[in-house]
Amino acid sequence: MRKSTKSILKYTLVVVIFLTCVPILLQRLSPDNGQLQQIGRETNIKDHAIAAVAPVAPHLVQHIDYASLPKKDWHDYARIKSDAARTGPGEQGRPYILSPEEKKNEHQDFSKHGFNKHISDVLSVERALPDIRDPRCKTMEYLVKLPNTSIVIPFHNEALSVLKRTVHSIINRSPPELLHEIILVDDFSDHDECKEPLNDYMVTVPKVRIIRATKREGLIRTRLLGASRATGQVLVFLDSHCEANVNWLPPLLESIALNRKCIACPMIDVIGNNDYHYETQAGDAMRGAFDWELFYKRIPLTEEELKRRKHAAEPFRTPIMAGGLFAVDRLYFNEIGGYDAGLEIWGGEQYDLSFK
Ligand SMILES: *[C@@H]1O[C@H](CO)[C@@H](O)[C@H](O)[C@H]1NC(C)=O
Repeated sequence: MRKSTKSILKYTLVVVIFLTCVPILLQRLSPDNGQLQQIGRETNIKDHAIAAVAPVAPHLVQHIDYASLPKKDWHDYARIKSDAARTGPGEQGRPYILSPEEKKNEHQDFSKHGFNKHISDVLSVERALPDIRDPRCKTMEYLVKLPNTSIVIPFHNEALSVLKRTVHSIINRSPPELLHEIILVDDFSDHDECKEPLNDYMVTVPKVRIIRATKREGLIRTRLLGASRATGQVLVFLDSHCEANVNWLPPLLESIALNRKCIACPMIDVIGNNDYHYETQAGDAMRGAFDWELFYKRIPLTEEELKRRKHAAEPFRTPIMAGGLFAVDRLYFNEIGGYDAGLEIWGGEQYDLSFK
């Protein structure tokens, strides 16, 4: 791997999910459900895969009259107000400046987690984030009837305060009726704080379950383990160092409610690994692609695709979806065979799912 890429991978870490009203979607174009079931069988080489055959419900068929469907404003204005009033270190996504005394431990913290754990421990696990979405998102309404969600979060030796912040941001910023469960899947951590302290803390947090692998499985099989235990209608895969921002969930779910063969990817902002400041990632919604070294690339939408879409929240076609953070209909995920359980680490899963 190229050195620059390697160091970027190593030090770009704390990702934030932040949803704009323009989720990137991988839209399956085959209108023929029968054909898909067959593909599902052919690729069903994993013993964990559930050979589910779900009929397409009438309201999920494409080309529905979107304008006529009942919608609502899903923003939680009470939460937005209380978040706006928060002050303290790192609040509102501001950078945390280390004192000379704190700086002494900085390096050690980096080598263990790839980010400064000390700062995470100082910040509130319920800190507020700035709303830097496209302004149009503030007035977007989404379908009244949306499916509920199992959030699957794999982790290996994640810093406890970071994992707590991930969980609280989801609970605080998701409509309760859409949040079925949060499944934390431990890929055989050996840090002590991932054991009893994590159990003891999460026992007090509603809807959270912890599942533990009995040997080191790697990212992909760990996600599959979580998915196999999930019972919500939609799976959302997140990383253990994310913070969900305002109204993040309804736009993802709406795309799936309208077409169960859509996979919805969030816009992902960035949290600085050395000061926890929150900032946007450059660029608008983009298609995914790859170069000859199989490195993932973001490329602009084609003119045709921009013209074809009637509104900003409509899915667009893309050859490759980013494989890390996304929402997918749970039964559909199983129909296409889920992830290939032979993937040992990350980096190929986006191609695996996209080609399927
Ligand atoms: C989510 O949907 C499933 C299936 O319809 C249902 O059994 C479950 O109770 C729902 N969860 C919540 C939190 O409403």
